[in-house]
Amino acid sequence: MNMFITGGSGRMGSEIIPRLQTRGWKIIAPSSREVSITDLDALTRAVDQAQPNVVLHLAAYTDVAKAEQDHAACYTANVLGSRNVARASAGARLVHISTDYVFDGESGMYKETDAPNPSNYYSLTKALGEEAARAAPNSLIVRTSFKDAVWKYPMAFADQYTSADYTDVIASELELLLIHLEAVDTDVLHLVTERKSILELAQRRNPHVQAGTRVGAKVHIPPDVSLDNSRWLAFKSQFSHQA
Ligand SMILES: NC(=O)c1ccc[n+]([C@@H]2O[C@H](COP(=O)([O-])OP(=O)(O)OC[C@H]3O[C@@H](n4cnc5c(N)ncnc54)[C@H](OP(=O)(O)O)[C@@H]3O)[C@@H](O)[C@H]2O)c1
Repeated sequence: MNMFITGGSGRMGSEIIPRLQTRGWKIIAPSSREVSITDLDALTRAVDQAQPNVVLHLAAYTDVAKAEQDHAACYTANVLGSRNVARASAGARLVHISTDYVFDGESGMYKETDAPNPSNYYSLTKALGEEAARAAPNSLIVRTSFKDAVWKYPMAFADQYTSADYTDVIASELELLLIHLEAVDTDVLHLVTERKSILELAQRRNPHVQAGTRVGAKVHIPPDVSLDNSRWLAFKSQFSHQA
């Protein structure tokens, strides 16, 4: 496997790259300073030189709060950057990483077939980025969500639900997906774990975390951003006997 990765220095990139290298895969993951996804010519040259089978597009503007004040930078990276990645990846399989936040989080257990309804600027640009990825001839949109390996805060909401998991847990799922990518016959996949409260997730790694409530929070906290992952579970059950 020969893979070109954008956003290799980020949270997920740093977790997944060593795993793939351990498998003996050739990984080319330039930093944003070496190749910005906003520069189509430089990106196309880099991808053409790498001749990858797969392009894993992780790079994004991910600061949700800052994006509200910094529309141009967020749009440039997440929409125009994703469009460039889709164009530059024309000869390869494109795995485009997106987010549970493309949904508004009001009802939860969103399926791959549900219509996105972004509720902030970051989410809007991620939803538009998905559309850019769809223009590539051979793309897979992977919606996921992950948290730092240890819960750093003293409190977590007992009344907010998610199917996010820790970065290392989601990286294992992503690794499995990449190993079996040729068998994927869908264009969108929810790569997450089961629905649980944020408190339950936090206490898995830090039992001292106290229960809090989103009621009365200064900003609107969507009650349920969980994704239905049954498509992913059905896919991976075919391979569960393999490493
Ligand atoms: N973290 C989450 O909770 C979460 C949840 C759902 C989905 N996601 C999605 O998962 C993906 C990875 O997220 P992450 O949390 O690992 O990201 P991250 O830690 O915030 O890192 C962002 C990465 O994008 C790169 N990048 C930004 N602008 C770039 C540009 N113009 N050209 C090239 N690279 C650029 C950064 O490179 P430099 O360091 O060189 O700037 C960095 O490697 C993103 O698509 C994100 O939307 C994340």
